[in-house]
Amino acid sequence: MFDYALYAQRRRRLLNQMQRGIAIIPNASEKQRNSDADHPYRFDSSFYYLSGFAEPESVLVLVAGEQPQSILFCREKDREREIWHGYRSGPDAAQEQFGFDAAYSIARLDEKLAELMGNQPALFYPLGADAAWDQRILRLRGSIQEKTRSGIRAPDEIRDVRTLLNEMRLFKDGHELDILRRAAAISTGAHRRAMQFTRSGQFEYEVEAELLHEFCRNGARDPAYTSIVAGGANACVLHYIENNARLQDGDLLLIDAGCEFKGYASDITRTFPVNGKFRPEQKDVYEIVLAAQTAAIAAALPGNNWEAPHNAALRILAQGFIDLKLCHGTVEGVLESESYKKYYMHRTGHWMGMDVHDVGDYKIGDQWRNLQAGMVMTVEPGCYIRPADDVPLALWNIGIRIEDDVVITATGNEVLTDAAPKTVYEIEELMRHE
Ligand code: GLY
Ligand code: MN
Ligand code: MN
Repeated sequence: MFDYALYAQRRRRLLNQMQRGIAIIPNASEKQRNSDADHPYRFDSSFYYLSGFAEPESVLVLVAGEQPQSILFCREKDREREIWHGYRSGPDAAQEQFGFDAAYSIARLDEKLAELMGNQPALFYPLGADAAWDQRILRLRGSIQEKTRSGIRAPDEIRDVRTLLNEMRLFKDGHELDILRRAAAISTGAHRRAMQFTRSGQFEYEVEAELLHEFCRNGARDPAYTSIVAGGANACVLHYIENNARLQDGDLLLIDAGCEFKGYASDITRTFPVNGKFRPEQKDVYEIVLAAQTAAIAAALPGNNWEAPHNAALRILAQGFIDLKLCHGTVEGVLESESYKKYYMHRTGHWMGMDVHDVGDYKIGDQWRNLQAGMVMTVEPGCYIRPADDVPLALWNIGIRIEDDVVITATGNEVLTDAAPKTVYEIEELMRHE
């Protein structure tokens, strides 16, 4: 059953924060891939968050004030097009099923907006997100301005609706957390499957196929981002997505992959030996990254600030890099000079939700914000060692990242992705071939 009250409540919260004015939130547009073939359609996250409505060519309009209104614009029913392309709700059914106060054909958008925008003090809109929409909305506002002599005023103030919306989306409600847990469960299953499947001689894309198969057969048809399946030296390319090399005995395989389930992401990285057994040097580096990740998760607590997990990971990595003779001097010196950046050049996490890199500010003013219950983040330290004269040969081309998805709770945190094996022992056990 579609829980329209949930979405109506989110709209009400936004309307209350707007206080007065009109919000216009267009859905994502369809994107052509090449002739007659489109990219798979993905709704705009904020539009869907407020509506639960997934059809393209739709726009949500919210009018704040004494009698707040939620209005949907969507495609008309169309017998011929529905035969070719599938079902359309049409405004009447959409209004009833999704609980809007009114719904109109998308063909009437300009006409109705000209009416609805008139005499509103403020326009809340994601300015700059899409140039074509910007032009259209500003042109409409211009056409209202031309009517000043008839006593109709265009909104004086244009505000970015994302300032309010992103802050709402940053704190996940129970409904969202349930979906995130399911997305995580599907993805941990896929990582286990990949570990059990992997053998030297296979191609990276064969392992990718196992991941996608596991996502899809569990109802998550799309990955939340392009899967990274990176054997050996490829793991040192942070955004490697070619996935077309042959896996070599003795190499590590880094997989960064997560499904999208019901509009919500998961984001998991595991690194394991292609042949199921870590070499001693690989294990040395792995244990350092794992210790850094464990420390970072332990610091992902309510009341700690956004930087606390990153700083916890950095201290462990810095000491580890000194022990491995990759960096020199003291931990403080390595942190100060940032010499660790040669081997660890990214940050330890990001918000996660409907978007894999989800919305929400990381700072309030110039201060890192505090972690609070309901926030969801990744914790993903790594180490990437490229060949170099000053690097011990046995460490060349080792690339390791370990990434989990973590919910901040009132008393601590919940790791959503624990079921994907992570210790050397767990990984070698799962990969033991009879
Ligand atoms: N998979 C993208 C990331 O880990 O941020
Ligand atoms: Mn991530
Ligand atoms: Mn990732």
